[in-house]
Amino acid sequence: MFWKNKIKPTITREILQDYLTYSGGKLPVCRAPFTSLYFFPDGQVGSCCLNKSFYTLGVYPENSINKIIKSKKRTEQQKYILANNLSNGCQICNENINSGNYSGVMATDYNKHEIGKNIKRIDFELSDFCNLDCLMCERDKKNKNSIYNDSFFEELKPYLKNLEATNFLGGEPFLIDIYYKIWDYLLIHNKNCNINIQSNGTVINDRIIELVSNEKVFISLSIDSVNKSSYEKIRKGADFDKMIKNFNVFNNIMKKKSHSMYVSVCPIAYNAAEIPEIVKFANESQCRIFFNRVVSPTELSLDNRSEGEYKQLLDNYYDQLNELSSNTEIEHYNKQTFGDFVKLIESLSKSAKESNNNILSKEKLKEILLNNTFYKRFPDKEMIILKCIESISDSLMISTLTYDDINSGNFEERYFALLKSSKTDDEIVKLFEKYFEIRKSKEKIS
Ligand SMILES: C[S@@+](CC[C@H](N)C(=O)[O-])C[C@H]1O[C@@H](n2cnc3c(N)ncnc32)[C@H](O)[C@@H]1O
Ligand code: SF4
Repeated sequence: MFWKNKIKPTITREILQDYLTYSGGKLPVCRAPFTSLYFFPDGQVGSCCLNKSFYTLGVYPENSINKIIKSKKRTEQQKYILANNLSNGCQICNENINSGNYSGVMATDYNKHEIGKNIKRIDFELSDFCNLDCLMCERDKKNKNSIYNDSFFEELKPYLKNLEATNFLGGEPFLIDIYYKIWDYLLIHNKNCNINIQSNGTVINDRIIELVSNEKVFISLSIDSVNKSSYEKIRKGADFDKMIKNFNVFNNIMKKKSHSMYVSVCPIAYNAAEIPEIVKFANESQCRIFFNRVVSPTELSLDNRSEGEYKQLLDNYYDQLNELSSNTEIEHYNKQTFGDFVKLIESLSKSAKESNNNILSKEKLKEILLNNTFYKRFPDKEMIILKCIESISDSLMISTLTYDDINSGNFEERYFALLKSSKTDDEIVKLFEKYFEIRKSKEKIS
């Protein structure tokens, strides 16, 4: 299995060792490509949630689950991981490991599963349907249709029996009908499988309470602010007071099972200054904190902010980090997670300083793209890309990672995956802007 290949590592030996010491893991650096599948709403299937924009293994129902597991693309991704090269779909983990943001590294989550012949974990994002319209969430939330129907459920059953863990996302999981079938099936046929549900905390009823009370069912709630007005501004359609009431019900059920619930946070421009307050709330509620990495929409993302904005944030974070208590195991965990998040902001701040020197002109970008052989394979996309370029300012300040990538000619696979995998023009424009770090307007960090 651990064959030699000539793929160059993207992580130095020292950093890798440090990360493995932190994560208690061993090589390969991530097991997701060996043990796991992630189903996206549009039928794309990856090894993990972070693969979507970069590298997927196949598309359901065109490819059966069995075909996807046996696909060449899966083997190829495994080869890269074995060479400690995290450029094949794994760019976000690569960046988090290299910046020291270890608790934000998704790969850590896959350590638990031993590599074997069966798939051990499946993450389900089978529908975008949701009752809220959160600012940072770019999903098609009103869409009730899903390509995952009863025949998908039948095809899935043999895999469900061997799983060790499942994750249910969306959309809002408690509003997605097929999830109830999968939960019922797992609770009868695979009682040992962990069922993790990521919810917005606004939907609750007796059936949900009964489900969540099962020993192997765990829930995590998304709470992006503990101030009613910020929360309701970000989580459009939600009522803060009702969500907190539900939060307390779920948290008490988890505590009765001696399990600490997770609070998931999307740090964005609107709530960046409130992050320490959310950590304190998690401490008081005996919950663990988790930070999503929001790279898009770019105007809300904390990536690519100005040096001044980062400084303002970091000054606040350092003070608050020092004051955070660390008496219990959960407080210690939350302090460490917040500390790692601060490291990420430090690393972004460093990139912002460097990017003052990384100027890419609009003309240069046009020239690079039009002369690129890879790009020429997609002539039908030319107009869309040219239109995007015309709409941007004359020069872009980009991160060193992107700047070096472009100049090394190394960027083709990374950037042009968007031409291969995207379906609509809008999606291509969004990905193009994301990859070239093009920001139309900025929401200010308050
Ligand atoms: C898409 S939601 C689905 C589950 C549920 N509706 C919820 O909000 O928890 C899964 C997680 O992704 C987070 N999320 C939403 N938009 C995001 C974005 N643009 N980037 C990263 N994470 C995001 C949510 O806050 C949530 O924690
Ligand atoms: S609740 Fe979740 S799925 Fe719904 S809009 Fe918000 S982040 Fe998106």
